[in-house]
Amino acid sequence: MNLSRSQFLRYLGKGAAALALVKSGALAATSSSKTKSNRQNKEGFLPSKQNSFPKFQPIAASERDALILPEGYRYGTIALFGDRINPQGDTFGFNSDFNCFLPFAGKKDTGLLWNNHETLGTLEYYVNGYDSQKQGPNLRTDKQIEQYLYALGGSVLRIAKQNGEWKLSPDSKYGRRINGLTEFRLTGPAAGSPALGNTNKAVGTFANCAGGTTFWNTILSCEENVEWVIEPCKLPHETHYGWVIEVDPFDPKSTPVKHTALGRFAHENAALVLSPSGKLVVYMGDDARDEFVYKFISKNSYDPSLGAGNSSLLEEGTLYAADFEKGVWIPLDFESNEILRNSKKENGERRFGSQADVLVRCREAGKVCGATPMDRPEDIEIHPLDGTVFIAMTNNDKHGNHFGQIVRIHEKSGDHAGLEFDYEIFVAGGNGSGFAAPDNLAFDNAGNLWMVTDISAKNLNRSVYKKYGNNGLFVIPTQGADAGKAFQFASSPTGAELTGLWFTPDQKELFVSVQHPGETTKDYQNPTSRWPQGGNSLPRPGVVAIYLK
Ligand code: FEO
Ligand code: CA
Ligand code: CA
Ligand code: CA
Repeated sequence: MNLSRSQFLRYLGKGAAALALVKSGALAATSSSKTKSNRQNKEGFLPSKQNSFPKFQPIAASERDALILPEGYRYGTIALFGDRINPQGDTFGFNSDFNCFLPFAGKKDTGLLWNNHETLGTLEYYVNGYDSQKQGPNLRTDKQIEQYLYALGGSVLRIAKQNGEWKLSPDSKYGRRINGLTEFRLTGPAAGSPALGNTNKAVGTFANCAGGTTFWNTILSCEENVEWVIEPCKLPHETHYGWVIEVDPFDPKSTPVKHTALGRFAHENAALVLSPSGKLVVYMGDDARDEFVYKFISKNSYDPSLGAGNSSLLEEGTLYAADFEKGVWIPLDFESNEILRNSKKENGERRFGSQADVLVRCREAGKVCGATPMDRPEDIEIHPLDGTVFIAMTNNDKHGNHFGQIVRIHEKSGDHAGLEFDYEIFVAGGNGSGFAAPDNLAFDNAGNLWMVTDISAKNLNRSVYKKYGNNGLFVIPTQGADAGKAFQFASSPTGAELTGLWFTPDQKELFVSVQHPGETTKDYQNPTSRWPQGGNSLPRPGVVAIYLK
């Protein structure tokens, strides 16, 4: 085995405990891929290598309040809730989720890390002193609401690797908070429409779950369970939330945008890929029980010479919802789709009057057109070697699906802009695989799938979920004899989930967020987690880098 080009994927060789997981040749890259994700090229990932499954002794499920890694690996924190991120004194937000790292041109060890801040949940008390478990949902002061909205959204962090450690630069001009108080510009067919109150401005982003990077070095971040924030914060414009936002982290003065062409729903993620004709394709999940998988295809083609001007690709195109029964993508396009134009409500009124209406109420549009209800579509990632599309369906307790599954879509024409597909269940949660509730996904450059789980706090270490312990991180080969087998790489602190998997450009390290440690807390003086500082400290969500020791 020659794995020396990637230390992170290197055989440890340090202890007898290191275990050979994959036999020689088991992970040979396919050479027949027709549709290769350009993400791999853009980010400078190493070329695929045969046999490059990371060797580690898989860990066992655990209920311990610790971020547990296999022997030979360690982690270091980069930013925790409340850390200062710029000279103006802005601070890192709460409950970290999606990460992506965009290096400065020509560098690999210095760049900008984006991190999403999703929710406050049970742990709101540690942010603004409001005890939602005792005081109920709606008695916050204006100050507490402001603190609530400030803690959500996302952070731009300048980070650099010094002496082998990724460190936050707290005095960088790039350090920036985008949060529930930030002004946005709306783009696309619904901007300025009556459905959005005839405005092309909106204030605030929150419930930012997963996201993606564009081919022009900007970030997409996805507004997921926005109703959890709109209500407690008494916000007036419900339809201004539930969109995909775009942020240019390299321009600290830029106004972030919300792209209405990508539809409004509980956006989990945005997986971008270029079709052979240069059209931008964005795969998206609506993470709710019985909601749909979507993809957006841009009208125009990507032009590298336009740089950030390619953002306009996200303003015009067609949004589709997936019909898994027929294997087709259904256009949610008011002009061409008669079902949408003719659909009537029970009182006989037209359901939709324009494309803006369709985009603002995507779930209704998908439903009347026969899109297939799914088991909470969470993250979506494109396989870097064969272009197949992996979707984590976390679970669906409406249908007795408690462990979830990972679906793999094969676009029939081998073109991501194609409109017919086939699919399979790549792996199901449960006893056979050893995991439950798959959520965020990431591929390494050898095509191994890295997956984190999200068993909800109320179910963790109970009943049928007991044997899975705390939420974890698993590595799943996609080819060879061990394809579809899950090997546990990490276990999260108590009450937490691991989120936001993102490899460094050289794949030597992995960035991961630790979200809601202590979410199972009832008594705020005695939290169920003291991660990461231990002792008598309070739990602090944040982002870490995982290293080989
Ligand atoms: Fe924010 Fe669907 O997890
Ligand atoms: Ca998620
Ligand atoms: Ca989740
Ligand atoms: Ca989550």
